[in-house]
Amino acid sequence: MSQAETTRRIGVALLGSSFMGRAHSRGLDAVRTLEDHPAAVPALRAICGRDQKKLDGMRDRYGWERTSTDWRALVEDPEIEVFDNAASNHLHAEPTIAAARAGKHVICEKPLGRDAAETRKMLEAVETAGVLHMCAFNYRFLPAIRFARELIERGDIGAPRQFRSRFLLGSGAVPGEAETAWRLRRETAGSGVVGDLLAHHVDVARYLVGEFTAVGGATRTWGPQRAGVEVDVEDAVVATVEFASGAIGTMEAARVLPGQVLESAVAIDGSEGSVTFDVRSPNELTFADARGSTTISVTAPEHPFAELWWPRGHGIGWGDSFSHELRHFLGAVAGAWEVAPHGATFLDGLRCAEVCDAVLAAATSGHRTEI
Ligand SMILES: NC(=O)c1ccc[n+]([C@@H]2O[C@H](COP(=O)([O-])OP(=O)(O)OC[C@H]3O[C@@H](n4cnc5c(N)ncnc54)[C@H](O)[C@@H]3O)[C@@H](O)[C@H]2O)c1
Repeated sequence: MSQAETTRRIGVALLGSSFMGRAHSRGLDAVRTLEDHPAAVPALRAICGRDQKKLDGMRDRYGWERTSTDWRALVEDPEIEVFDNAASNHLHAEPTIAAARAGKHVICEKPLGRDAAETRKMLEAVETAGVLHMCAFNYRFLPAIRFARELIERGDIGAPRQFRSRFLLGSGAVPGEAETAWRLRRETAGSGVVGDLLAHHVDVARYLVGEFTAVGGATRTWGPQRAGVEVDVEDAVVATVEFASGAIGTMEAARVLPGQVLESAVAIDGSEGSVTFDVRSPNELTFADARGSTTISVTAPEHPFAELWWPRGHGIGWGDSFSHELRHFLGAVAGAWEVAPHGATFLDGLRCAEVCDAVLAAATSGHRTEI
């Protein structure tokens, strides 16, 4: 990791002040204090949302210099070098494209667009503008996922043969809990659990196993009315997947299961061994082969991101992946490293969107869909 000679101070604007607005604000805040000599630190120039009271609280808590309820006021600001979009899905494309055209480097929450067509427009805009771009797939910045990639790259599990993932939530089944209305409508969200949850694991699968070639799928909407709106997106999905490497797999995601608080688990079985991860134990990776199974505490000095944190065994939390992710993007803007391969670029966001669209198409047609 870096011991930069000089630290670049990079002006950041953040769109979004709720769940992800907090996660990104906290992540940016931590970037300022993680290292003695960071490649870059953020200057928290402006935060934008709809609720002025909430924005005032975010300003007081994290030190945002100013607040705005109009994202258009931010994209032309010469003091802002990075535009960080953590708003709801229908506000990803337009502000991100406007920011890129104004010369800002852009990082945007997943799913990038509401479908592959919208995502492609975002990719074209950043490529035309020549700005750096990253899709905020934070799982790549969990130490155990990064370590899984190291194990796979050095051949510990052999050739990947099977991939399994489950992203199961109960929030939609608990009245008054986390569900926000925009997530339940195609117009604002694009899709339901496919873009919201499955997309995370599609990206993890691409990061660890490689490109998808075909999918099958089934979806269900348990609706009908939640958070004051008619639900018109899928609440559950089960998919079969095939990879260019020859590996196959199954993926499922759901968010209206009262018996599930949060399970987000990934397993890869290879010709020599297997790795298993669940975000409920974010510092652990289980490795197994014919000799048995061992759960590795991914907190030793030689493990990914460990030098930023505590002595062996103490571990970090899910929220800290946002610090790693934002540190990575700011470091790339400062020229310390490239966004890829560890950061997901907008091209990765597009590849993920193509897989998500194919799962939805397969569910509608009832046929296996090639990508
Ligand atoms: N990486 C992750 O683990 C993760 C987790 C949750 C959500 N997300 C993604 O983050 C994004 C935000 O999700 P969330 O859970 O924070 O949603 P949320 O409903 O909690 O927040 C949405 C935010 O968008 C803002 N917003 C909406 N319309 C606006 C407007 N016209 N002007 C200004 N601000 C506006 C709201 O003020 C709010 O701050 C989504 O794209 C979601 O898919 C990612």
